[in-house]
Amino acid sequence: MKYYLTTPIYYTNAAPHIGHAYTTITADAIKRLKIMQGYDAVLTTGTDEHGVNVERAAEAQGKSAQEYTDVIAEEFRNQWKILGLSIDRFERTTSDRHARCVQDLFMRCRDRGYVYKGEYKGQYCIFDNLYVNDAKPGDPCPECGRPTETVTEENYFFRLSAFQQKLLDLYEAQPDWVQPETRRNEVIAFVKQGLQDLSITRTQIKWGIPVPNEPRHVFYVWFDALTTYMSAVHGEGLWPADLHLIGKEIVRFHAVYWPSFLMAAELPLPKKIFAHGWLLFENDKMSKSRGNIVRATPIHKVLGTDALRYFLLREVVFGQDGSFSYDALVGRYNSDLANGLGNLASRTLTMIHQYRGGAVPDSPGEAHIAEAADDAVASALEAFDKFEFSRALEIIWSLIGRLDKFIVERAPWKLAKEKDDESRRLLDETLYTAAEALRVVTALLGPVIPDSAAKIWSQLGFTHPVSDVRTRDLHWGKLPAGQLLGTVGAVFPRADAKLSIEKMRELEVVEYARQQAVLGKTVPKPEAETKIAIEDFLKIDMRVGVVKEAAAVKGSDKLLHLHVDIGEPKPRSIVAGIAGAYKPQELVGRKVAIVANLQPRKLKGLESQGMIIAASLEDTPPALVSFLDDVPVGARLK
Ligand code: MSP
Repeated sequence: MKYYLTTPIYYTNAAPHIGHAYTTITADAIKRLKIMQGYDAVLTTGTDEHGVNVERAAEAQGKSAQEYTDVIAEEFRNQWKILGLSIDRFERTTSDRHARCVQDLFMRCRDRGYVYKGEYKGQYCIFDNLYVNDAKPGDPCPECGRPTETVTEENYFFRLSAFQQKLLDLYEAQPDWVQPETRRNEVIAFVKQGLQDLSITRTQIKWGIPVPNEPRHVFYVWFDALTTYMSAVHGEGLWPADLHLIGKEIVRFHAVYWPSFLMAAELPLPKKIFAHGWLLFENDKMSKSRGNIVRATPIHKVLGTDALRYFLLREVVFGQDGSFSYDALVGRYNSDLANGLGNLASRTLTMIHQYRGGAVPDSPGEAHIAEAADDAVASALEAFDKFEFSRALEIIWSLIGRLDKFIVERAPWKLAKEKDDESRRLLDETLYTAAEALRVVTALLGPVIPDSAAKIWSQLGFTHPVSDVRTRDLHWGKLPAGQLLGTVGAVFPRADAKLSIEKMRELEVVEYARQQAVLGKTVPKPEAETKIAIEDFLKIDMRVGVVKEAAAVKGSDKLLHLHVDIGEPKPRSIVAGIAGAYKPQELVGRKVAIVANLQPRKLKGLESQGMIIAASLEDTPPALVSFLDDVPVGARLK
């Protein structure tokens, strides 16, 4: 039985970050879950390399578009390798095979009367590759807010209008075809408004797949990109896909355009589209202009990929937006992985080494726990199947909690001191119960935290890989009595929150700079190494202050007017160029650092009696210097 799933193919005008990793990691986990259920699962990802955005980015660097995308496609491929994701097909839209598939899809649509030549005049967003109907020149793109561009061109049009009813019938006949429900409702509402025909070729762009017999035309990037899902597995009998996993912002392309193209071409439709929510950074949208994009590799280096995988799947309710923060990540790691699973594993295995010479005792296990484990397996698998990852993990962790309690209640360290038969039997039962539950939990978590599960698995003494486990093996009682355990070692060493966050932040700066270099952009190096004497440094009087008031400055979108108390009789009036990064209301009450002995000066008619200290790179917004520790107002920075 096959299960074919896909991630979106990522644009090559940006480098991979945690948002891309979120989808790809989830897809990898689903693939592993399907394998556990006995499917031959195949996962496709890739890169979306055509379009005006890439053309322009390459031009800016004096590179050919192909040279430019080669580098970034490699960057994505590498990223998935570093994160240990099990990708089967990595398809680039610049491959010849893909081009032939796109051309073939076009001809199938044309031969069946769904394509005609016409003229397009209207607004277009080059960043989202979106035609904005009913927009006037200069109107913003509804997706990203950037101004749209006016384009007039001879195009081939796809008769999208012919599919309104067919699409509505599809959503009706298969209510879970687009998930979750909120996205389905959005799609239905969109289609009900009426569909306009869609321009699917371009004459103003060169960087694209040529339209057969029309040398001036290349395909519209979405017609091109969506076809990747088929071209990646061309001739393998894997189409239709069982699942397209996407982010919520590209639902329309997948749930409206894509099935229409396929229906027009008389090709089978994918079985399901699931749109997850957005990963925010500390509740804010991640974006280049905010400079708050997080990359996955620093997390991988400090806490391991499994920590990130677990966090993303546990913390975010799949389908809804979720927030990432280093604090929450380390918090989850320590409480659930180090203390929860890690502790259960080391405690259980160490006791079997200590009390039973490292051999699994012979016992059926404690009946209530056995039943609870079987129930937990059934409900967790059911939740996984509905893509309710967070719920599934909650179920598994409540079993872990129950086991901890069980061990404490049974107090095997006391039983071990008794010499009578009943104590001996109880100790066997306790140790077997803990070890068998650990086996079940570990196997069930294989798809979520594959590396760590493999480690615990071999500590349990298994010689076959944990990835060979199938759902039928999850039943209670399959741990063979007498099995010799492997060497016990910590799988999730406790992380020092402060140190590990510092380390991740440091590595994040390094990774950002490396990616910028890969993209051909430069990050300014620290000023040339002219050394100053300590006395020179001490001339600068930097103080900790607290913001008492903050307001926008009339006539400026950069400046904020702050009143900062640094322990003097009156708060300082300070004008700071931070309006792009902070809203006035979020600053009140916040501790900041200021330079207190600068010459005062006037800005927009307001006196500025100091300077707020903030950090930024050339193109990132300023980030205010702040303190992790409690620090008194007026304290000097030195
Ligand atoms: N190239 C198109 C997709 C074509 S599919 C035929 C595209 N590429 S993209 O590079 O912009 O990637 C978008 C996808 O990346 C989202 O749909 C989502 O899966 C993932 N994410 C990127 N940033 C994200 C977050 N901040 N949060 C969650 N996922 C997001 O659109």
